[in-house]
Amino acid sequence: MLTIPAAERLIVALDLPTVDEARSLVNRLGGAVGFYKIGLQLQYSGGIDLARELRGQGKKIFLDAKLLDIDQTVTNAVANIARLGVDFLTVHGLGPTLRAAAKGRGTSALKLLAVTVLTSQGPEDMAELGTRFSVEELVLRRAKAALDAGCDGVIASGREAAPIRAMAGDRLLIVTPGIRSEGSAADDQKRTMTPREAIAAGADYLVMGREIMRSPDPGGAAERVIREIEAALSN
Ligand code: C5P
Repeated sequence: MLTIPAAERLIVALDLPTVDEARSLVNRLGGAVGFYKIGLQLQYSGGIDLARELRGQGKKIFLDAKLLDIDQTVTNAVANIARLGVDFLTVHGLGPTLRAAAKGRGTSALKLLAVTVLTSQGPEDMAELGTRFSVEELVLRRAKAALDAGCDGVIASGREAAPIRAMAGDRLLIVTPGIRSEGSAADDQKRTMTPREAIAAGADYLVMGREIMRSPDPGGAAERVIREIEAALSN
């Protein structure tokens, strides 16, 4: 397990329609949260400017762009994203795409994370993805592709964290969405785990959106998750 402070292991997804709403959530969370994910929704309503603003306040930024295109376009896009100074970026977990992204990142500090299989997808979705592999097999193949391409980590559900760790050791960061505290609604997520379970399974970072945003006290909810991460790390 890497020596990342528990408070930095929680990444809050700013899945909100406007920058004003996202900024007000960040303000409510205050010092409790230092790492934010800006995803597809906010990227199209000022999220890139917000990323720069939050970087200026010392926050870390995960740009969840889930890139997939021809290799040259991916290389060029990643080179521009690296110049934004964000910390994490997602790219779909296909070998050529990941290699193209690694080329675009150059010597910058940007960490590239391969999307393996979305946590909203389960065994019944594998045919739609055009694969004969099980969820776990496909996740592991994509994690191996990330490693071979020189990427830094993967996005995977807590359910696949242990086999990824067994395959890659500490050479890949495991970033896990689909996190739900006990008793909390799963929404559209299928492969969910609690914060404690995901950390115990080997996840390095947890991504949480709706459960924190829906809470009447988002700061308190984030602090509870961070305490649960701390407890899981000390076991
Ligand atoms: O609201 P919830 O906690 O389910 O949010 C999870 C976040 O993680 C969303 O922003 C979603 O886009 C993202 N994500 C995911 N599964 C992946 C990659 C990203 O749920 N494989």
